[in-house]
Amino acid sequence: MKVLIREEEIHEGISKLAQQLHQHYGDSPLTVVAIMTGSLVMLADLIRRLEMPVRISLIAASSYRGGMTSGEIEIDDSRMLDIRGRDVLLIDDIFDTGKTLVEVTARLRKLKPKSIKTAVFLNKRGKSTVNESPDYSVFDIPNAFVVGYGLDYQDLYRNLPYVGVLEESDLKQHSPH
Ligand code: IMP
Ligand code: MG
Repeated sequence: MKVLIREEEIHEGISKLAQQLHQHYGDSPLTVVAIMTGSLVMLADLIRRLEMPVRISLIAASSYRGGMTSGEIEIDDSRMLDIRGRDVLLIDDIFDTGKTLVEVTARLRKLKPKSIKTAVFLNKRGKSTVNESPDYSVFDIPNAFVVGYGLDYQDLYRNLPYVGVLEESDLKQHSPH
């Protein structure tokens, strides 16, 4: 697997994001809403660098891409904290077409937070099909399929401490058969 972003670079990037968030929110309490499962590694690293009072809430979003039709996003917000009147930071692993982030943001707005900002670990350039873009992104990457640091291929590779580009030879290795 080709390494695209090394572990040390990731940690520098996450620290920089934490600094930007401190500049914006100061000491105000922040509710971090993380989209499962891809953003869990980023969540764990980011919150340990935040110094304001932090609440954590998880939300699940999965997209079903059937045939040629564009993906429908299914959102499970049954474990959400009450975010009414709160400053909310929504985080996700990657901004690809942008559909997930846009739809989850729309869902959260209905819960009447004071503000919502979005932060993604990776922003895949040139693939967005929506007008919005994330407020913060840690790295911009080219249009390749990447894994590691929370990102998966068929639920594998999330535990890699770096970001790698998946190659043909990697695809065959982990079949259970
Ligand atoms: P979007 O709705 O198209 O922005 O898709 C976002 C979701 O697609 C992410 O949360 C990932 O689960 C998945 N995804 C998009 N690109 C990649 C990739 O390169 N590697 C792994 N997952 C990806
Ligand atoms: Mg995902």
